[in-house]
Amino acid sequence: MAYSNKVIDHVENPRNVGSLDKNDPSVATGMVGAPACGDVMKLQIKVSGEGIIEDAKFKTYGCGSAIASSSLVTEWVKGKTLDEAGEIKNTDISAELELPPVKIHCSILAEDAIQAAIADYKSKQAK
Ligand code: FES
Ligand code: FES
Repeated sequence: MAYSNKVIDHVENPRNVGSLDKNDPSVATGMVGAPACGDVMKLQIKVSGEGIIEDAKFKTYGCGSAIASSSLVTEWVKGKTLDEAGEIKNTDISAELELPPVKIHCSILAEDAIQAAIADYKSKQAK
């Protein structure tokens, strides 16, 4: 299958690959998997005292579209509030990356990862 140039760019030059310190109280982790293909995506965010996402990192074990989707969202969430980041939709991701229909679930995985990271941050703060 042909990947779009944007997907290829993110696969060849992934942004923000890596991990943040999960013991840091300002760091939250979203870990999600796609049952259809077995791909796993980990997205971490570091949130400032003002509630702004100041850093984001990802690790994805999966296809090019999943890697590109997670790389893209690390760029998009930086500088956003949690609420703004929570508004990112898989359709925004798939449109930006020009994903074909069979790869839409890869962008859904990235949306789910953002939601999971935000939920983890909120539950950490509640403690
Ligand atoms: Fe998920 Fe491509 S099927 S790796
Ligand atoms: Fe399953 Fe890409 S093929 S996440």
